Amino acid sequence: MTTLQDQLQRPLRDLRISVTDRCNFRCSYCMPAEIFGPDYAFLPSDKILNFDEIERLVKVFVSLGVKKVRITGGEPLLRHNLPELIERIHRIVGVEDIALTTNGTLLKKFALKLAKAGLSRVSVSLDSLNDERFFEMNGHRGKVLTVLEGIEKAVEAGLQVKINMVVQKGKNDQDIVSMAQFFKEKQHILRFIEYMDVGNSNGWRLNDVVPKQEIIESVHQLSPLQQIVPNYKGEVATRYQYQDDQGEIGVISSVTDSFCSTCSRVRLSAEGKLYTCLFATDGIDLRELLRAEKDDTAIIQRISDIWESRNDRYSDERNEQTMTKRKKFKIEMSHIGG
Ligand code: GTP
Ligand code: 5AD
Ligand code: SF4
Ligand code: SF4
Repeated sequence: MTTLQDQLQRPLRDLRISVTDRCNFRCSYCMPAEIFGPDYAFLPSDKILNFDEIERLVKVFVSLGVKKVRITGGEPLLRHNLPELIERIHRIVGVEDIALTTNGTLLKKFALKLAKAGLSRVSVSLDSLNDERFFEMNGHRGKVLTVLEGIEKAVEAGLQVKINMVVQKGKNDQDIVSMAQFFKEKQHILRFIEYMDVGNSNGWRLNDVVPKQEIIESVHQLSPLQQIVPNYKGEVATRYQYQDDQGEIGVISSVTDSFCSTCSRVRLSAEGKLYTCLFATDGIDLRELLRAEKDDTAIIQRISDIWESRNDRYSDERNEQTMTKRKKFKIEMSHIGG
């Protein structure tokens, strides 16, 4: 097996596949309703990779070092027959872990099917336990109870569950402690995500970010915490354990404490473009190559070249540069998942 390394000696380990650019939510930090309105041009179905194409690419990526696969969207459970895709990926020798990032609204319906298909883990996004604030943040689309029921079903189905909460100052920072308390009792790992400047639509300002340190201090008041070692090199979240041994939280601090130096993630959009960073301007079209090439040699070579020339470290640079020098155009989060 080839061990690919990029320009910063980072291996390729983690493939994140967006299976649709559509979502049934309109979170203001990701797909604001004013921009993603009724006339928004989502990808037509013939432009989206089919399951044969995705499966073929996963095999190629595994031959290049990928061990973890994460399915994202938009909302991935909107993709027709998703459990079938999971089953196909599960059968690929070398895939050690399959996870899914979802808003949880359709989990009640799909959790068991997904688990049976070979899914190991789900990250469920939930920004508040307060219906009014949750509604405000998700563009008036979904209720807290629906997501909580989805989480329950996922647990019953045997999936490992983590909860992701994007924290935005003035919108849901008042929910940090209640979320921590609730999920401590439920024994689920809650990860707080610093609000990021992904895409071009969310009007991000540094002032809207609640820094990791503040989040930790708030939760520490509720119940004392201690930092613990990462599960693996390059883990996105910094982990903290409650000192009473009753659970764990994580903080994903792309803004105040970035983690590019160990980033081994590559992202594939629903239309088959490859992105070497969450903040990339454009991706490399693999769909055309897939549809033109009968065997995988040229595709493997193309991906190796891309990875070997990769030098992305956007979040580190954001911290080093003045805000005015930040990139002007970035791919939307809903195109490449989280
Ligand atoms: P595990 O550690 O395997 O559970 O995965 P994960 O932490 O990568 O899981 P998840 O997809 O739930 O990631 C949580 C969030 O972290 C994403 O939704 C993004 O908001 C953020 N994130 C993930 N990867 C990156 C990254 O490479 N760069 C930045 N800046 N943010 C990321
Ligand atoms: N900042 C931080 N996290 C974000 N997500 C989406 N947009 C942003 C943003 N601007 C997260 C969601 C979800 C995952 C898909 O990405 O909360 O957990
Ligand atoms: Fe949809 Fe997730 Fe984006 Fe919210 S963050 S709009 S749930 S893709
Ligand atoms: Fe990786 Fe880009 Fe995120 Fe840095 S900003 S951790 S390089 S995806």
